[in-house]
Amino acid sequence: MSRGLPIGVFDSGVGGLTVLRALRAALPHESFVYLGDTARLPYGTKSPGTISRYALQAAGLLVQRGIKLLVVACNTASAVAIDDLRAAFPGLPVVGVVEPGAAAAARASVSGRIAVIGTESTIRGGAYSRAIAALRGDAVVSGRACPLFVALAEEGWLDGPIPEAVAREYLATLVADVDALVLGCTHFPLLAGAIRRVVGPALAIVDSAETTAVAVAEQLAAHGLLASVAASSGAIAADCVMLATDGRERFARVGSGFLGMPLSAEGVELVDL
Ligand code: DGL
Repeated sequence: MSRGLPIGVFDSGVGGLTVLRALRAALPHESFVYLGDTARLPYGTKSPGTISRYALQAAGLLVQRGIKLLVVACNTASAVAIDDLRAAFPGLPVVGVVEPGAAAAARASVSGRIAVIGTESTIRGGAYSRAIAALRGDAVVSGRACPLFVALAEEGWLDGPIPEAVAREYLATLVADVDALVLGCTHFPLLAGAIRRVVGPALAIVDSAETTAVAVAEQLAAHGLLASVAASSGAIAADCVMLATDGRERFARVGSGFLGMPLSAEGVELVDL
């Protein structure tokens, strides 16, 4: 494994760009290849077997291109398929988003009463409850699936009365008795403004992007895979290769804002899994 290789990152769509943004900020000398499996989104409503198959195919394509570490920038795939991915690609460090998110939640909550929102599959599988309970014995975790948030984020429909009405419907009762809300889907930070207006200023809103970037930096260091400063081109925008399985125009339009760098449809390569 060469430290000059890029870091591979995948999600079902644009949501994982929230993680890529944090990775680029934390690791400015690294290069990245990002895959959004937009043709098969959403993952969160599928069965565990299908999610695992999709995740293995997405990771397989990135591995074929040559990567030194894999970031599963999708809570659904992290919750369901992380063990399958580690087994399928032995020797490749694989970092998911659930454990970093659970660690951030355990730190952010004072009362130990924590709400988690995610896709149907993430909530049904209980991965967050288990990961938080392993870190904090006093934690009481409640959860709710919020699948419409994924569609709103993919549409770039992030603010205004409709996202707020959806957020109110999903969250009003859920957050009544908690002091931390975990955004357990990488699409949800895109709706953080609407969510904040519904839950009020006092609640801690936790997302796993930054803690995942810290976990990635630790893994790279542990495996001697950090890029050398001298070898990096310094041209950060050129060091992000973008792949999608469908809809590259929409991917570029919605994705550029989230990533904080301009993306053109021509700059997004269409791939088949
Ligand atoms: N962004 C993904 C997650 O973190 C999945 C959204 C979906 O495809 O349902 O769960």
